[in-house]
Amino acid sequence: MKYLPEWARVGVLAIDERHDEFCEIAARLKAAKSDDEFLEVFCELYSHTVSHFKAEEDDMDGMEYPNSYEHKKEHEKALAELDYFLDKTKNGKIFFARAFAKDRLDDWFKTHVLNMDSDLARAMKL
Ligand SMILES: [Fe+2]
Ligand SMILES: [Fe+2]
Repeated sequence: MKYLPEWARVGVLAIDERHDEFCEIAARLKAAKSDDEFLEVFCELYSHTVSHFKAEEDDMDGMEYPNSYEHKKEHEKALAELDYFLDKTKNGKIFFARAFAKDRLDDWFKTHVLNMDSDLARAMKL
């Protein structure tokens, strides 16, 4: 686990591995030099996120988890936002997506992990 910071580890291996992959892709996205590279990595981040969220939601559905509704709503909002910026990127308005990747993606991840995924991990460890 090379990319996931210590504070973000929730102690469920499958979750931590997915988050490590998210951080690795996010780092490449922020470092992307050309617009083509940015678009390619953004597409990768998007498809990673779809399967990342699906895996967490499958875990929620497989147990008695009281915060499924809120957690799934947060996923839905995040995917809608990624979708919006991916669309901007595809339509040549890459500046908006670069600003999102640079200024907001890390904060989103931090808030989500600390408030949502860590709670899911706690419930999975019970
Ligand atoms: Fe997650
Ligand atoms: Fe999540």
